[in-house]
Amino acid sequence: MTSKTQWVNEIYEKMEQKLYAECARMGEKIPYWTVGGVYKEDYAKKDIYWWTNGFWSGILWQLYHATKNELYLETARKNEDLLDQALHGFIGLHHDTGFMWLHSAVADYRLTGSEEAKVRGLNAASVLAGRYNPNGKFIRAWNPECVEEGEDCTGWIIVDSMMNIPLLYWAGQITGDPRFQQIAVNHADTVASYLVREDGSCGHIACINPDTGELEHILGGQGYSETSSWSRGQSWILYGFALSYRHTKNKKYLDIAKKTSHYFISNIALTGYIPLCDFRQPASAAYTDTSAGLCAACGLLEIAEHVDECEKNLYRTYAELILKHTAETCCDWNPDTDGIVQNCKVAFHNDRREQTDLIYADYFLTEAVLRLLGKDFLIW
Ligand code: GLY
Repeated sequence: MTSKTQWVNEIYEKMEQKLYAECARMGEKIPYWTVGGVYKEDYAKKDIYWWTNGFWSGILWQLYHATKNELYLETARKNEDLLDQALHGFIGLHHDTGFMWLHSAVADYRLTGSEEAKVRGLNAASVLAGRYNPNGKFIRAWNPECVEEGEDCTGWIIVDSMMNIPLLYWAGQITGDPRFQQIAVNHADTVASYLVREDGSCGHIACINPDTGELEHILGGQGYSETSSWSRGQSWILYGFALSYRHTKNKKYLDIAKKTSHYFISNIALTGYIPLCDFRQPASAAYTDTSAGLCAACGLLEIAEHVDECEKNLYRTYAELILKHTAETCCDWNPDTDGIVQNCKVAFHNDRREQTDLIYADYFLTEAVLRLLGKDFLIW
């Protein structure tokens, strides 16, 4: 180990110790966030369709890959079985099937070659592809029960979707059927046209006429407003387009990933490498979102894999700065409590919790650490 990676290794040791302890105490539970430092709620029982229900499996598969400890595999498999209730129930399924099954069944298939897992992944990909609107060339977001009463989301797209379409790239590779990739790239192009702004910032929701495909208006969604810049949305965009570049080699996508990452970097440099919840929130609001920082760190490391040697340092350095500052100032490393990354925020206007831990922040922490140590595998 070089002195350059010594500090990452120290984070890895603490992280793996805590995640192992969580895994041993939780059994089959699917966690989302803690209550008093404990994963009390089991999302397999509370809401099997909940969009974050794959991230715990993603952590477990990453750790299984890194350590070969069978407890991680066995626990991930139990979660994968539980998710069948959602796959078979169907009605509550949404655009986040990528987050749910890339991290569970597809990860299983990639690491073990399980045929059962492959079929689950292909079913999930078919659900996602089935949400495609050919006139508008987009994958619709959410379902009526996910939005406010009176709102019609039939024509809505959101930036988060960029992290789900890798499920389609995977299904296209597995089946040899080009339709999966056609849907993914058409959707990515629509997101690029309607939600990525010239300055590298982005909107959250574009409302499109579902019959004509014309853009009607933009909504602020989980950010402060329709003209602001929700930091987790920014991280979905920068990592999502970097992944679309990985899978298609279309340079336009890498350029978008780079542009949006430069915008992200210049914003976090103002706040000690911990992102605000919205880069354009009012000065009176002090909300941060560490999940956005860690997701972006993984995206920056992804970009670093696709640029020339002389450019790599920029992306890697900022990924390391985010990880270092988050690990030093915003993490709970006590193995007796649940949840590592603190100071996340679900949405700017979400008043249920001011700041909290969130399972996907712990996933992106895990991925960033393992990427820096060369021990990760590509889940996307
Ligand atoms: N995909 C929903 C979120 O980022 O909160």
